Amino acid sequence: MLAIIGGHGLTELANLKITHRQVMRTPYGEPSGAFMFGMLNQREVIFLARHGYGHTIPPHLVNYRANLWALREQGVSKVVSIATVGGIRTDLIPGTIVVPDQIIDYTHGRDATFYDTRDAIYTNANFTLPFCPKLRAHILHSANSVQQPCVDGGVYAATQGPRLDSIAEINRYERDGADMVGMTGMPETALAMELDLKYAIIAVVVNHAAGRGDSKLGINIEQVNATATASMERVRSVLECVVSGDGD
Ligand code: HPA
Repeated sequence: MLAIIGGHGLTELANLKITHRQVMRTPYGEPSGAFMFGMLNQREVIFLARHGYGHTIPPHLVNYRANLWALREQGVSKVVSIATVGGIRTDLIPGTIVVPDQIIDYTHGRDATFYDTRDAIYTNANFTLPFCPKLRAHILHSANSVQQPCVDGGVYAATQGPRLDSIAEINRYERDGADMVGMTGMPETALAMELDLKYAIIAVVVNHAAGRGDSKLGINIEQVNATATASMERVRSVLECVVSGDGD
């Protein structure tokens, strides 16, 4: 089964016919909210709002482990994550949809592994390709078939938040090779791999990163929210197509 984790601007899927909601418990605590089980385009999916349904959980306080653990417990094998980002690369302007293929972790102090005791056998997640290539290809193909332009690849810089970045930080991420910046890509991507979940991110550029484009003096949050809301309509149409083929 496929799960969708919605981010900023996507706390619900309007086209999801909800069959039931279920509160989950895990050894790692509670997920961000009740799971929404339903049918999207006649396929069974689970939807979860990463920041909670009232958008109250900031990126550094999301219980990423509980979210992914509970999804796997429900038989999920694929996760499509929706995440808003700031665009660093010049072509990643607000409104662009991009499926990143690499990630750099600048977060700290988050529970970033399921192997956090000294008495369990652990494995080293093979993070060379952080995102599932097949799932990425399937998303790109789906976007193409619903005529939604979608950029193939890019490096996602995962920052701690919840504050936005300084210009010097963005310059550093760019020197490191980052194309976009967001706050939720890690540890979610790595935890999904530890659980053998096929995982990919649909990133929606909602602003120019600090110091770029019209963000030279700051980021206009109202504009960010408006872009997020407007872009999520297009993401929804991509998702409808993503669920209808299973990508395997
Ligand atoms: N920086 C960090 N995270 C973000 C941004 C940004 O500019 N936009 C959306 N998420």
